[in-house]
Amino acid sequence: MKKIAIVGFGSRGQMFGKLIRQYGGAELVAIAETEESNRKRGVEEFGLSEAVCYPSADAFFAQGKIVDAIFLCTQDKQHYEMAMQALELGYDICLEKPAAATIEDCIAIRDKANELGRKVMLTHVVRYAPFYGAIKRMIIEGKLGDVVTINQTENIAYWHFALSYVRGPWRKMFDSTPTIIAKCCHDLDIILWLLNKKCTHVSSFGSLQHFNPQNAPKGSAEYCADCEKAVKEKCLYNAYKVYPERMKRGVVGGTARFIGKDINEVLDEKQDAICKCVYHSDNDAVDHQVVNMVFENGATAHLTMTAFSEECYRFVKVHGTKGEVYGNFDDGILYYTEYGKPQQKIDSSKLVEFNTFGIDTSGGHGGGDTYLYFDFIDYITKDSPSFTRTTIDDSIESHILGFKAEESRLNNGQVMEVKG
Ligand SMILES: NC(=O)c1ccc[n+]([C@@H]2O[C@H](COP(=O)([O-])OP(=O)(O)OC[C@H]3O[C@@H](n4cnc5c(N)ncnc54)[C@H](O)[C@@H]3O)[C@@H](O)[C@H]2O)c1
Repeated sequence: MKKIAIVGFGSRGQMFGKLIRQYGGAELVAIAETEESNRKRGVEEFGLSEAVCYPSADAFFAQGKIVDAIFLCTQDKQHYEMAMQALELGYDICLEKPAAATIEDCIAIRDKANELGRKVMLTHVVRYAPFYGAIKRMIIEGKLGDVVTINQTENIAYWHFALSYVRGPWRKMFDSTPTIIAKCCHDLDIILWLLNKKCTHVSSFGSLQHFNPQNAPKGSAEYCADCEKAVKEKCLYNAYKVYPERMKRGVVGGTARFIGKDINEVLDEKQDAICKCVYHSDNDAVDHQVVNMVFENGATAHLTMTAFSEECYRFVKVHGTKGEVYGNFDDGILYYTEYGKPQQKIDSSKLVEFNTFGIDTSGGHGGGDTYLYFDFIDYITKDSPSFTRTTIDDSIESHILGFKAEESRLNNGQVMEVKG
């Protein structure tokens, strides 16, 4: 059985730890994590000895090659250096998306992995969900004819955007990655996967329109703790309300630090951006962006990313020459029409061909997290053919598309050529 270490044992790292514990197929033998409370969880909840809960990635890498593969789950800007070290040491990597924070670093990881013959799988979990798998299969089976246009919308949800991109780890694009990569590299990956063609040109517009001081309500303060009561009560983003509510649904946007603590106490301390008013944060992440793409065969695609929706979900519509399909990723229902015939409603969660492991598709990313875990373990053990597996080359191609879209946005929508 392959021995695994998880580097960065925060929200995503622990999620992978739980999958290893629940489904087996590999053995978790070490973690590397700077936060003591997370290392403690490694000991208490995952049964690891303190000796193998390394206090940093550096301390772990200093041991040389002690496992077969790693899950690299630190923050975006840390990926490049850690991935390069891991590759040099001989590790295969399940690498959290985005691969790295710049186009150059992404390409360097791809080239190093190819040069050294290492297996690197990006966590493009969305393509593993039966919802998108079903669309891909329809395309392969010719049910849509030739795909001419794809429209994908990433509805981030006002509360999720505030937690992650105004107060959370991805609020400053320079410190992490442009939002179109951080949030939408999944969407770009899906578009490329479904179309299976090279994108040749891209253009993009977007800005940070709402979460800035001009929109701060009268009576608001720098921290929710100091905001006037009447203003706070009406505010959609009142941290004393929004964090507890959302934590009930799962950890999101840096809220891992609230686990096991009294949220009110943390907010009263006013120590960091997660306690700040959304209109007085130090954020620069855009809150809406559109991307237009054209492909080598003339097909087009459009992506809308917006902070402003009630729920957090993706919506997709694929238009082919013989039929169309659309649906909401959140409920997993697809509506397929072969032109001229009655519409069919398909519940993707019930498609047995995508559920060979009996996975609950209501889980992380429509079941995608779990499928990806299985596929990574297969990749580094049997390397069987996989319908969904993404190579490092394909993953980096969608990242390049995202970085080019960002370059276009910064140049008032100028059309950018996309080269591999
Ligand atoms: N695939 C997806 O759909 C998806 C979803 C959410 C986040 N992500 C990505 O996963 C990554 C992790 O996100 P997260 O939400 O788990 O963040 P997180 O902050 O909860 O976890 C990161 C962990 O790394 C630890 N860390 C920091 N420096 C370290 C070091 N030098 N050595 C070892 N550990 C260190 C932190 O203490 C933290 O616990 C990010 O790149 C993020 O963009 C991917």
